[in-house]
Amino acid sequence: MTSAAAFDLCLINARLATLEGESGYGLLEDGAVACRGGRIAFAGLRSALPDAALTAHNVLDCGGALVTPALIDCHTHLVFGGDRAGEFEQRLNGASYEEIARAGGGIASSMRATRAASEDDLLALALPRARALMRDGVATLEIKSGYGLDHDSELRMLRVARRLGQVLGITVKTTFLAAHALPPEYAGRADDYIAFICDELLPAAAAQGLVDAVDAFCERIAFSPKQTARVFSTARALGLPVKLHADQLGDSGGAALVARFDGLSADHVEYTSEDGVRAMANRGTVAVLLPGAFLCLRETRQPPVDRFRVHGVPMAVATDANPGTSPLLSLRLAMALACIQFRLTPEEALRGATCHAARALGLPDRGRIVPGLRADLALWNVGQPAELCYWLGGDLLQKLIVSGRCIG
Ligand code: NIG
Ligand code: FE
Repeated sequence: MTSAAAFDLCLINARLATLEGESGYGLLEDGAVACRGGRIAFAGLRSALPDAALTAHNVLDCGGALVTPALIDCHTHLVFGGDRAGEFEQRLNGASYEEIARAGGGIASSMRATRAASEDDLLALALPRARALMRDGVATLEIKSGYGLDHDSELRMLRVARRLGQVLGITVKTTFLAAHALPPEYAGRADDYIAFICDELLPAAAAQGLVDAVDAFCERIAFSPKQTARVFSTARALGLPVKLHADQLGDSGGAALVARFDGLSADHVEYTSEDGVRAMANRGTVAVLLPGAFLCLRETRQPPVDRFRVHGVPMAVATDANPGTSPLLSLRLAMALACIQFRLTPEEALRGATCHAARALGLPDRGRIVPGLRADLALWNVGQPAELCYWLGGDLLQKLIVSGRCIG
């Protein structure tokens, strides 16, 4: 028997997009959700709601609002010092991202500003960025290191990411990305830097509990497949899952490489080949689409969305929020861009920012509105789910519920 006190929160008069099953919004008109202990205890039609749920501590009449799972941004570089607005202007004047990177700008420029910033500085800078994402319904956020590129600064970035989650009351998953660029002290010695990462930095960060996953930038301007594989072998030996910035600027076989290590995700993937797509399908690796970077770099090569569909590779959508290639602080806008630029359907984009993003983070406990999952929910001032991708900007979020508690 269910005791009345067992429910903490009950939503009624909601239009639910449950995303139950593998396709469709899972729409339920006149739906209700009851939560207990931070989890969804009931989700379904109001007519089937257990009476006890109406005596929940908090009963919320949604007034017909659309309710979706809270959004999940599964790829960000939210912690960094400085900005790269000057490089934005240089690019508008014709310089390419690669030229700027080779001339000592790009990631190295953010590295200098990040190294110079204290832990409190970095936290203060990242907080408003994270709050901007939350205003768009985000309750789970991945944050990468990769602008420190030395022992202290990489660990500092990861600690800031952990603190952000604590301060904001949302889930932050940390990803170790020391293999993002070669720091100046290792110029001409990329293999030595990779050895330092594998022998010292990653084991130290992991020992301090700061790493949820390991990423690398496998690209002609960054690290080779062989160097990436070495980082991945170390990660797997430490019991950590991997993901990869793969095939963004050219096909280096990155998607197939990360799949070989049972990777959670291959991200960017514009140049991924048919073999790469098949490898991802075989290993259950998610394709993370990052339309903000595609837009800002004026890329023209489309990710192989149709091939992902044909082979059943789940597609996630994320902001890639970073100071260089994607200063994008709205996951809804990323969803809209994924529809407009990559021709995702709004339903695919919503799954991409919820259940498929959860999978890209190895979080099977969220991303759909079904009993047993975390009660992370977003209430929206819209009539139909497609509006989440249709409106560019605007304050569409009515309420964000995290683990059964209204936090905004
Ligand atoms: O995801 N590609 C590598 N990392 C980032 C860009 C980082 C930067 O330019 O600061 C990305 O696009
Ligand atoms: Fe990125």
